[in-house]
Amino acid sequence: MIFEALKPQVEAIISNKIKTVDERLFSICELLKKNIAYYNWVGFYFSHPSKEELHLGPYVGEPTDHTIIPFGKGICGQVALSNKNFVVPDVKAQDNYIACSITVKAEIVVPIFVSGKNIGQIDIDSNTADPFTELDEQFLEFVCEKVATIL
Ligand code: SME
Repeated sequence: MIFEALKPQVEAIISNKIKTVDERLFSICELLKKNIAYYNWVGFYFSHPSKEELHLGPYVGEPTDHTIIPFGKGICGQVALSNKNFVVPDVKAQDNYIACSITVKAEIVVPIFVSGKNIGQIDIDSNTADPFTELDEQFLEFVCEKVATIL
């Protein structure tokens, strides 16, 4: 199972203190995009310390115009408020969705908690329709827990 094989690699990246936090987050994006065929854009958004906005952090995939997303807007902005995973099998079926690329068919966003506070999220876009399962959620929760330890 690819997720089980990737977990130790995620842990190795996280514990590599020679790299900066952003370098490590970028390496995680690269690892996931390279090894999971239906992960076509992988990135992190983090809450602004005082404004109700998400700011784009390290990512891999096509550049996006959406470097700042207000809380409540799009899938990402909704997760900033709900504190819950958001799995979107078909982005066309969503009213409150921010399109980054016309090739994207599905999206998953999983929040990152530090001391119980939702401080950001991992966001994955897929060019494949309805690709995400419970196993993606569990794996991404694992990634977010590990990331939380270095923030
Ligand atoms: N689609 C997201 C915006 C971020 S991009 O996917 C990189 C949303 O609706 O929040």
